[in-house]
Amino acid sequence: MKIKKIETEFEVYENVNELPKDVSELMAEAVKARLRAYAPYSNFLVGAALLLDNGEIVTGNNQENASYPSGLCAERTAIYYAGSQFPGAKIVRMAIIAGSVKNKTTTPIPPCGACRQAILEYEINQELPIDIYFMGESGEVMRSKSLANLLPLVFEKSVL
Ligand code: THU
Repeated sequence: MKIKKIETEFEVYENVNELPKDVSELMAEAVKARLRAYAPYSNFLVGAALLLDNGEIVTGNNQENASYPSGLCAERTAIYYAGSQFPGAKIVRMAIIAGSVKNKTTTPIPPCGACRQAILEYEINQELPIDIYFMGESGEVMRSKSLANLLPLVFEKSVL
C-alpha cells in the first residue's frame, strides 16, 4: 500500500472589509438573501449569491419543510435557479453566508456535501472554476478558487 496525500488551498480573509469591493457586494446580496430564508425548523439561515458570466446576480436561500428531507439548501436553490433561468451561463463566483438565529455564528460555514456535489456538476460542465467565498454571520471569510478544493475526490459523469 501507499499513502496518497491531496493538498487543497484556501484563502482566509479577516472579515468582509478585507474583500475586494465586487466580492463584498456579492456577499451583501447573499446577506439579503439569507434574511429571506425559510428555516423555521433549524433556525439556521443560509444565503447564497451567484455572479454569472452574463452579469446576472442570482440569489437563493434555504427552504425547509415539515417533512425535513424535502427542504433544500441555499446553495442548491441558487444554482438550480441559475441553471433553470440562464441555461449555458457560467457561474463565475459564489458568496455564501450562514448562521444560526439562536447563537452568533462567527466561523466560516462551507457548503454541505450534497451542495458540493451539485456545484461540482456545474463546474465540470462549464469548464471554468467557480470562485467560492463563505462565511458565518460575521468574522473570517474563506475563499476557495475552485469547488475542487472543497471536494478533492470527485464522483462525476466521466466514470459512468
Ligand atoms: N443548509 C444550507 O442551506 N446550506 C448548507 O450548505 C448547509 C445547510 C441549510 C439546510 C437547513 O435548512 C439548515 O441549513 C440546517 O441544516
